[in-house]
Amino acid sequence: MSRYQKTDFPTHDIRRFLEPGPIVLVSSAHGDQTNIMTMGWHMVMEFSPSLVGCLISSGNHSFELVRSSKQCVINIPTVDIAETVVKIGNCSGSSVDKFTEFGLTPKPGTHVRAPLIDECYANFECELSDAGWVNKYNVFVFEVVKAHVATSPKLPKTIHYRGDGEFMISGTETRKWRRFFRPGML
Ligand SMILES: Cc1cc2nc3c(=O)[nH]c(=O)nc-3n(C[C@H](O)[C@H](O)[C@H](O)COP(=O)(O)O)c2cc1C
Repeated sequence: MSRYQKTDFPTHDIRRFLEPGPIVLVSSAHGDQTNIMTMGWHMVMEFSPSLVGCLISSGNHSFELVRSSKQCVINIPTVDIAETVVKIGNCSGSSVDKFTEFGLTPKPGTHVRAPLIDECYANFECELSDAGWVNKYNVFVFEVVKAHVATSPKLPKTIHYRGDGEFMISGTETRKWRRFFRPGML
């Protein structure tokens, strides 16, 4: 007998099983404007140089700021500011100054003009590495050129989107399968 009984599932919803990394906040700056957007669709693409692919919809205010400045900061929020993270993703920087509206603190970076969000656990300063997928997929390939990560806690409670307003909060951690990895694959 098969282990699972299965039914047809809409292909447009399979993203709910391909759990991506944590929900992040992308901060950007161009000219005299700064902005923040919430982003779930990102993908690690290379170790070194450290490349991350990010889907930023062309309808978002952030799109032009990022495209023109060729920079952004990927900020990692934790569950304590989840409500703010959702609200940031439900309004546009074209009409709202999100740093002021949500009481977040912009901090200068060392490599890019886009501000770091101080309230986030980690901040990755990014420079555009490849714009080849922007027109076709709205995907920007960034190189992380500088990373700032909190020293404590070691395991932050990050938030992960499952679609349909449902989130998962990072929880149980285990090294149970570590011994099966080849050292180069860790
Ligand atoms: C949980 C969550 C995840 C999101 N993921 C993405 C994403 O991966 N890419 C994207 O373009 N928009 C995403 N959005 C929507 C944007 O955050 C939203 O359109 C935002 O208002 C854009 O802000 P802006 O217009 O100021 O740039 C997400 C929103 C939420 C709440």
